[in-house]
Amino acid sequence: MMLSEPINKRRLGQTEIEVTPIGLGVMQFAGGEGIFGMMFPEISQEKMNGIIKTALDGGINWFDTAEIYGRGRSERGLANALRAAEKKDDEVIVATKWLPMLRTARNIPRTISDRLHFLDGYSIDLYMVHQPWGFSPPEAEMDAMADLVQVGKIRSVGVSNFNAEQMRRAQMALQKRGLPLAVNQVQYSLLHRKIETNGVLAAAKELGVTITAWSPLASGLLTGKFHKNPEILNQTPFGRRMQLRRGIERSRPLIQALEEVSIKHDATPAQIALNWLIHFQGEAVVAIPGASKAKQAEESAGVMKFKLSNEEMNRLDKLSRVFR
Ligand SMILES: NC(=O)c1ccc[n+]([C@@H]2O[C@H](COP(=O)([O-])OP(=O)(O)OC[C@H]3O[C@@H](n4cnc5c(N)ncnc54)[C@H](OP(=O)(O)O)[C@@H]3O)[C@@H](O)[C@H]2O)c1
Repeated sequence: MMLSEPINKRRLGQTEIEVTPIGLGVMQFAGGEGIFGMMFPEISQEKMNGIIKTALDGGINWFDTAEIYGRGRSERGLANALRAAEKKDDEVIVATKWLPMLRTARNIPRTISDRLHFLDGYSIDLYMVHQPWGFSPPEAEMDAMADLVQVGKIRSVGVSNFNAEQMRRAQMALQKRGLPLAVNQVQYSLLHRKIETNGVLAAAKELGVTITAWSPLASGLLTGKFHKNPEILNQTPFGRRMQLRRGIERSRPLIQALEEVSIKHDATPAQIALNWLIHFQGEAVVAIPGASKAKQAEESAGVMKFKLSNEEMNRLDKLSRVFR
């Protein structure tokens, strides 16, 4: 179904922040160095500018980055690209994340000035704890985050990769400070549906916390390009190649169905997979596909122009239940 009106924005949890159901993940902007050099090639600033401009032109209003994405590289690349697109701070939503590894909650106020420095004039609308692996309990982390909201350094607080119990603890700690937990950013796609069975999705719905789906295209597998053309795997950086190769055979029937449905909608399999993700659970889920080319960002934005029928969504649901 083609939508005659632009798709409604969704509030991040119980906050006042409104985002388009599709945002853009910019982990790809960290490429070229360290662990990310094994996953993504370096992207020039000019190319980043093109990706961000295309996403904005397509209606995407928010971007997801993180400290660990090149320790400021992705954040700065994003800020530069937003500026090149002549976007003012209050016209876009920026989400970034604090890395808790080998750190305590005391590091949160210590490193916030680095995040703001790299974001170079763009405010942090959503600040997340990236993983539940810090030395401090969620309560202490949420307290430190709430302090940042109080002094106006960030607008809202989220978590990432938290299980249901950790999420509840984070939500309760913030509630004591009069704040909502905005999001839990977790892996979720037609090929990775664990949150539907491990209690995370149910808890998020109950608590009114938005699920942000990372790797919503299963690192590109759901585009069908590796099924059609397995030799392009050899050009894919080593860090992603093994995981992609393993997924190809298991996902073939699903990819076939995505292709069939895509013809009817004059869309691509990737667009069908993302459309399913932002509609199958009502308004509980938003997605942040990554892009290394402007064309990919354009396709992702195009997902907001149509809606799959219930019958189509149920067909994809059935075929992907093995990934729950
Ligand atoms: N919180 C966390 O722990 C966590 C973890 C991972 C990711 N994330 C976030 O989630 C975002 C998305 O995750 P992701 O990048 O891992 O996976 P993804 O969105 O599932 O896949 C992105 C990759 O798929 C390919 N692609 C995208 N659109 C395409 C299209 N229309 N046609 C063909 N190929 C297309 C591109 O691959 P090529 O570059 O090879 O062309 C792109 O790099 C990240 O940018 C990051 O912000 C968060």
